[in-house]
Amino acid sequence: MTQRVLVRDTLKLVNQIVRLSGWVHARRDHGKLVFIDLRDRSGIVQIVGGDVLKDLRIEDVVDVSGLVKDRPANLQNPKIETGKVEVEARKVTVLSHSKELPFPIDTDGYEIDEEIRSKYRYLDIRRPRMAKNLRLRSKVVAYIRNFLLDRDFVEVETPILTKTTPEGARDFIVPSRLKKGKFYALPQSPQQYKQLLMVAGLERYFQIARCFRDEDPRKDRAYGEFTQLDLEMSFVTQNDILTLTEELFTRLVKDLFPDKHMTQTPWPRFSHNQVRQKYGTDKPDLRKDKNDVQELAFSWTIDFPLFAEQSKEDFYYGSGQAKFAPSHHMFTAPHPDDIPLLDKDPLKVRGLQHDLVLNGFEVGGGSIRIHQREVQDKVFDLIGFTKEQKKQFEHMLTAFTYGVPPHGGIAPGVDRILMAILGEPSVREVMAFPTSASGQTSVMDAPSVVEPQQLKELHLKVVESNKKEK
Ligand code: AMO
Repeated sequence: MTQRVLVRDTLKLVNQIVRLSGWVHARRDHGKLVFIDLRDRSGIVQIVGGDVLKDLRIEDVVDVSGLVKDRPANLQNPKIETGKVEVEARKVTVLSHSKELPFPIDTDGYEIDEEIRSKYRYLDIRRPRMAKNLRLRSKVVAYIRNFLLDRDFVEVETPILTKTTPEGARDFIVPSRLKKGKFYALPQSPQQYKQLLMVAGLERYFQIARCFRDEDPRKDRAYGEFTQLDLEMSFVTQNDILTLTEELFTRLVKDLFPDKHMTQTPWPRFSHNQVRQKYGTDKPDLRKDKNDVQELAFSWTIDFPLFAEQSKEDFYYGSGQAKFAPSHHMFTAPHPDDIPLLDKDPLKVRGLQHDLVLNGFEVGGGSIRIHQREVQDKVFDLIGFTKEQKKQFEHMLTAFTYGVPPHGGIAPGVDRILMAILGEPSVREVMAFPTSASGQTSVMDAPSVVEPQQLKELHLKVVESNKKEK
């Protein structure tokens, strides 16, 4: 059998017999002549034929052998890359038939109910827009990897079964079979591990890290899990972290998204006070023309207050008794000039936190970390940690007694930054199998019940509540 060629290569193979494989994207029946748009991973090409194409249905998977021909000038289709040619079908084999799809895939899909798109995500991804987004995402991640590896960073995978790593959301917990009544927590971020890797002397770490948070979804916030570019460096200033991140994304946009332009370079930096006064938010949308989908307005917000007044939502900290909650997380270092204020007026202390903002979204956050045991201990006290809660983080305090380099980092959200760059309306448009807004996983329909035997092994009992749940 002749070698399969890709649809986009037909342009170079005029007057030759080729074999193509793919899906029937569209079909037009003109009586004696039938036209098929054949789609594979590289694009779409028109196939023309008679009886050989008669029985094909939309989304059937087929193998087509035929002759590539130039199209006369008046019949060329400038809308598709292969529009100058068509393939005259000689032999067609149906590899598998398709039922009628639950929704069209030749539109951009925004008009279709998200739950249905999620249930049949493997069909939704056939949609050219979705396939393109996933390909771009793969390129973005590869670009980030190469950029950081070139600069002496080490990629390290940190555990998913771990202990609580509070970032302000609820944890997902996993029961232990071997330790009765004990639980793992899925990491809200690799925050503590990356700091421990600095104690370990790696100096420059990154990870394309999966993070798990049980919090209400929004357009820019996935429910359940999402991905961060997590990075950490030793012996650096805040400016070093900002400069590296800025160089990475400036180059990435230039190389991978050449049609986009940045409103301002270098990116403006605002103190938290400044930006709130000027724009009434800590994540301003600085685009000159908000209708211009090609415009990217990056900025930095720094000098956040280290603490905020604790509210009911900060259920995690200090059993609701303390006055202060960390405005970023509890490992962020206080501004060195403000350390005396920790005792006198904690709400006035600035933190060495930095937020990366793009078109009005907070697309990344990070900080210089506390690396002195006493300061970390004091922050734990201020956020009202009980002795028990402190014990949960004893490993950090212990690690800080063995020679810890000053360090800091950042974690841009891969999903959110890509959403903002592409101008997509939700993070779910750049994720392969996102959990729906109601917490149902895509296609697989979890969460679901488990066998009684599994519960028994895990020493768990499900208590039926009066309210019937599905
Ligand atoms: P933070 O909690 O600010 O910081 O998160 C960093 C970035 O992760 C992305 N993000 C999300 N993206 C999609 N869905 C979500 N539910 C979601 N939650 C967060 C955002 C956000 O800016 N450990 C620290 C980082 C550090 O200090 O280095 C952290 O996780 O883009």
